[in-house]
Amino acid sequence: MKIGFLGTGNFTVALGKVWAAAGHQIFVAGRSSDNATKAAAAVGGTAVPPASLAGLAEVLVVAVAWEGLEPVLALAGAPGGALAGLTVIDCTNAVDYGTGRLKPETGSAAELVASLAPGAHVVKALHLFAGTSWRGRSATDSADGNSAADVQVVAICGDDAGSLAITSALIEDLGGKAAILGDLSAARQLEEAAGYVMRVVAAGFNPRSAVPDVRRG
Ligand SMILES: NC(=O)c1ccc[n+]([C@@H]2O[C@H](COP(=O)([O-])OP(=O)(O)OC[C@H]3O[C@@H](n4cnc5c(N)ncnc54)[C@H](OP(=O)(O)O)[C@@H]3O)[C@@H](O)[C@H]2O)c1
Repeated sequence: MKIGFLGTGNFTVALGKVWAAAGHQIFVAGRSSDNATKAAAAVGGTAVPPASLAGLAEVLVVAVAWEGLEPVLALAGAPGGALAGLTVIDCTNAVDYGTGRLKPETGSAAELVASLAPGAHVVKALHLFAGTSWRGRSATDSADGNSAADVQVVAICGDDAGSLAITSALIEDLGGKAAILGDLSAARQLEEAAGYVMRVVAAGFNPRSAVPDVRRG
């Protein structure tokens, strides 16, 4: 697929490398063309202006800091409908790292993306795991539903079935499995999970040990 990244940081480079190795074509855009050029070079992709991204990509991954969400979406023409019909995967962590609390008082980063990008099919995904934790599809080759200790399960949500399917396939290419939790109104819960994880880590524990081990029957 043609995957466009809106954002030029560490997460773009980490995911872009794995998806490029899986055969996807990568486009990178952000507020800084220099940073877009560096990130694109790191993944073997192409740097493009933000306003061109929607016309080139089949899937758009939003990978910017919370503070940059609105300005970068504006650069991509989102408020004018440029992302209408596109699958837009929002990976934003809108968490206050000191307290673990979500910065938006209500709603979610993903719902903000949807409101700023009319017509886009927004999916919340991939915000919980470090980008560098992805190793590619071989990680899932021997996995079954009870092998959660070995496979990163990515809880996702969104309103469009086709976009959830596309996102699930891209997660498999990263080496994970998608668990679809519902429509986009579930995004706040998914985003708050990041704050929970951070607080467990801050308390001195591995968050993997801080959820119940529930085996499928
Ligand atoms: N790194 C991970 O492993 C990881 C994992 C899961 C989710 N995430 C999420 O993915 C997003 C990106 O993370 P990252 O690690 O790539 O961060 P990063 O390396 O710090 O890069 C941040 C990106 O956001 C842009 N940005 C920051 N403030 C902006 C502003 N005010 N206006 C416009 N653009 C702005 C930066 O643009 P400039 O280059 O111009 O500064 C850069 O492209 C974050 O929401 C993060 O929580 C990251």
